[in-house]
Amino acid sequence: MQLETSNNTWIILYQVYCIQWQTSSRPSIAEMYLDEEEDADVNPLGHFWIEGDSLAPPCQAELDVVNGILDLAEPYITAESTLYDLGCGDGRICTEASRRFKCKSIGCEIEPHLIERFRNNVHRLDLADKVKVVQGDLLELELDQIGVIVVYLLPESVEMIRSKLIGALERGSVLIFNTWGLKGIQYKTKATCGFADNCNLFLYDASCLI
Ligand SMILES: C[S@@+](CC[C@H](N)C(=O)[O-])C[C@H]1O[C@@H](n2cnc3c(N)ncnc32)[C@H](O)[C@@H]1O
Repeated sequence: MQLETSNNTWIILYQVYCIQWQTSSRPSIAEMYLDEEEDADVNPLGHFWIEGDSLAPPCQAELDVVNGILDLAEPYITAESTLYDLGCGDGRICTEASRRFKCKSIGCEIEPHLIERFRNNVHRLDLADKVKVVQGDLLELELDQIGVIVVYLLPESVEMIRSKLIGALERGSVLIFNTWGLKGIQYKTKATCGFADNCNLFLYDASCLI
């Protein structure tokens, strides 16, 4: 039997193939990170971290905490603003923020294996025009863009960047802290999220400085 197929049919089949390829190679963030949560290698060096190695251990916020942070950030963020994550791990807060709010995001991370994962995820999610990956020490990072700054660092590390954070607040940025906030300054909003609501988030804006 001879099958006759017109050029138009081939074009349509090719288009269907391209759409399928694009959808299958671009997972949703939830699918992508849930896969990784089950991967024992998600934080291969986490167990070897000892205090003093860096400003916080390499552990990622779980997805419901990522969503809790972004729910808190939502009223303060537009497509024109920038979200920073200082010590961003695999960059999940940045990628999800840019996907959800179409905003720019900047993630700074010192661990090479997490930066590699972050870069791969930015590529897989086709977010290179929105998400900036900064490999290096967050102590060196300029917070010159106005927006939301996410911090999940040890309390003594927060103190090390305190003046930088206060400067950003004065310029109009909003700070969201996971677990440990700014010592001696009353937060504007507190939210709980995560498994059994066991994760505390603290939001500060310029009004907290008065
Ligand atoms: C507690 S984890 C938080 C990760 C991410 N922000 C999140 O909430 O999922 C802290 C991260 O900060 C990174 N870190 C620690 N010291 C750093 C430094 N000096 N510069 C950049 N990143 C650093 C760690 O490697 C780790 O990935």
